[in-house]
Amino acid sequence: MKKHIETKLSHLQDFATIQDPYGASHFPIYNTGTFDLKKQDGEKIYDYTRSDNPTREALENLFTEAENGAGCVCTHTGIAAVALLFETVLKANSEVLVEADCYGGTFRLLKIFQGKYNIKVHFADFQSEPGLENILKNNKIDLVLCESPTNPGLKIIDLGMVSVIAKKYNALFAVDNSLATFISQRPLDLGADFSLFSTTKYISGHGSVVAGAIVAKTEELAKEIHYYANAHGRSQNPMDVFLISLGIPTLKIRMREHQDNSIKIAKFLKKQSFIKAVLHPGLEDHPQHRLATYQMDFIPGVFCAEFINKEFAEKFIENTKIFGEKCSFGSPDSRVEIPAKISHATFSEEELAAIGITPSTVRFSIGLENVDDLIDDIKQAIK
Ligand SMILES: Cc1ncc(COP(=O)(O)O)c(C=O)c1O
Repeated sequence: MKKHIETKLSHLQDFATIQDPYGASHFPIYNTGTFDLKKQDGEKIYDYTRSDNPTREALENLFTEAENGAGCVCTHTGIAAVALLFETVLKANSEVLVEADCYGGTFRLLKIFQGKYNIKVHFADFQSEPGLENILKNNKIDLVLCESPTNPGLKIIDLGMVSVIAKKYNALFAVDNSLATFISQRPLDLGADFSLFSTTKYISGHGSVVAGAIVAKTEELAKEIHYYANAHGRSQNPMDVFLISLGIPTLKIRMREHQDNSIKIAKFLKKQSFIKAVLHPGLEDHPQHRLATYQMDFIPGVFCAEFINKEFAEKFIENTKIFGEKCSFGSPDSRVEIPAKISHATFSEEELAAIGITPSTVRFSIGLENVDDLIDDIKQAIK
């Protein structure tokens, strides 16, 4: 019987490789370092949790299916999934093409790879098809990487367009799907070779753990990520796998609520005199609103607002009572932060200005609270 993804995600035990003899609803936590080889006679033999673990494998099966891939590795953080991508694909002197608007941690990692391993990094605006083609044509690019929506600039990248160009020049294409998640957007269906994401955010959904995952489109690439995950010790521990899995059955309904709440707040902010601009892909005046609604089933609840000045933005954050001043996104609690100060502090002011982010830009991650309470909090914060 054909089942929709949300039906499958509501039955976590079905992703386990080992059938539970008691019909448990959830796959068990195998919190062990080793497995006795003499006591196993199943098709799959486990020896050491760094290499393979039945609990982690259940979550990897789930992500593989949800992203329409061939295999997955769950990693101990989201940035470990990005690192694992680089460790798998890049060699000394490789060249990478990255959307200039990327997560600060990814930017820092690229700088490290650049300095230590002589990796050449090209940053570009992925909205320019001729610009992208030009770089790929004139360089030997091994890997193309972007987020969509981008964090913090909230650009929407046409993933189908980028994958066609990357393929034309024999480059692998990876998408950081942390913001949209597989419930909204499936990069592998649009031609990407890898979809990776921080499960710290919407996927676990409760802000209680840090973790990540990378899904490969082909078995060959899946084997490669698995090999390097074991060699570099990137895999996630079983307890954290369990915590991540708890949020998965509710992912779809949470994404809808994050979307609806954030659109209401973005519309409210747009009318305020202390706001110069609001950038939310769910608003019709966002430059790629049509592409956003075509490419994603839900628009994530993260957006940026440009305040009249830095002092006002900082005062606003200081005065809010429900919104915390926190990095990260995708949790039930709403939060605000100044990317230039926190999540993207690894960028210089000029680098941020190039992607439209200033010290007066506030990033909002809208949670699952009653939206009227959030609006009341904003009103009292600006009094
Ligand atoms: C788009 C994106 N990718 C990757 C990461 C890294 O994830 P983690 O913090 O779980 O290591 C983040 C973290 O904020 C992110 O925003």
